[in-house]
Amino acid sequence: MKKIAVLTSGGDAPGMNAAVRAVVRTALNAGIEVYGVVRGFNGLINDELIPMNLRSVSNILQQGGTMLYTARCLEFKELEYQQKAAEICRKHGIEGVVVCGGDGSFRGAQKLSKQGIPTIGIPCTIDNDIGCCEYTIGYDTATNTVVDLVDKLRDTCQSHDRCSVVEVMGRHAGWLALSAGIAAGATSILVPEVPYDFQKDIVDRMKYTSSLGKHHFIVMVAEGIGDVDKLAKKIEEATGVETRATVLGHVQRGGRPSSRDRLLASQMGYYAAHLLMEGKTERVVAVNNNTLMDFDIDEALAMKKPFKDQLFKMAAEISI
Ligand code: ADP
Ligand code: F6P
Repeated sequence: MKKIAVLTSGGDAPGMNAAVRAVVRTALNAGIEVYGVVRGFNGLINDELIPMNLRSVSNILQQGGTMLYTARCLEFKELEYQQKAAEICRKHGIEGVVVCGGDGSFRGAQKLSKQGIPTIGIPCTIDNDIGCCEYTIGYDTATNTVVDLVDKLRDTCQSHDRCSVVEVMGRHAGWLALSAGIAAGATSILVPEVPYDFQKDIVDRMKYTSSLGKHHFIVMVAEGIGDVDKLAKKIEEATGVETRATVLGHVQRGGRPSSRDRLLASQMGYYAAHLLMEGKTERVVAVNNNTLMDFDIDEALAMKKPFKDQLFKMAAEISI
């Protein structure tokens, strides 16, 4: 193998730069040329590639976002664009591509591989919704960001004896709401994986904890559960507690990656580059029980990660 490429695709995630850096440095160290593809699969379709050297990835380890930019490229769902991308790779002599992104990006990687260009996926998403991987790159940083923001919300919530309803990202998964909800001491955590009862899980719980001396409340809500402004109004009407809603939004995607994400991304980038150099394709790198491993993309995309019900139960028991 003489030449590979790396790209970042889909929603950006803190730690993507660390993964790109590890891929580039590992391959260059093995005497392999590396191209960076700009703006995900768009960059392949539009032939927007930049030759990378050791210094191209200097000073990015600690930066959020992605130096290669990212995009959602709907055209890549069409065969003609997948074929065009493969032609562009062959034109440059690129023999494999590392794709940093979420499950959608892995589907794109799979299609590119079917066109004869080997691909390896690295799970980068703050949602942590990749079934074959316990922790995805960006999840730890986003959890820390949410906790920091909710700690700030708690100051004002406590000062006013209020309830704060906080919406966090996660697309269709509740991992961010669960981890940050526990770490920030939320009274209630609402996630798509666990149906909730408004009266029992919010109103009665606030009344019960109030009887135990609690005077302010945090309700952590994964996006997609519903309109948090309406929920806040409903809570205030039902409990008499002044309630305000806050949607944290895209701040959760930014910020300097945590040391944990930098370490995870460096390990995954190194591992992915070696898989490609060993001639593997259509693999997704993952970490489970602190061990790096890889799965066939089809297998990885079909895997469902069991929600941590025990953790969810624990949260309910200790946040009183
Ligand atoms: P994520 O990778 O974060 O899940 P998306 O679901 O938006 O983000 O996917 C990112 C990109 O991957 C899409 O914009 C598209 O270019 C590519 N992609 C997603 N699904 C497919 C598919 N089924 N076939 C080909 N390409 C896809
Ligand atoms: O997949 C990451 C994510 O941040 C989701 O949590 C969120 O629903 C989505 O991306 C937002 O997408 P966009 O950045 O296109 O608004």
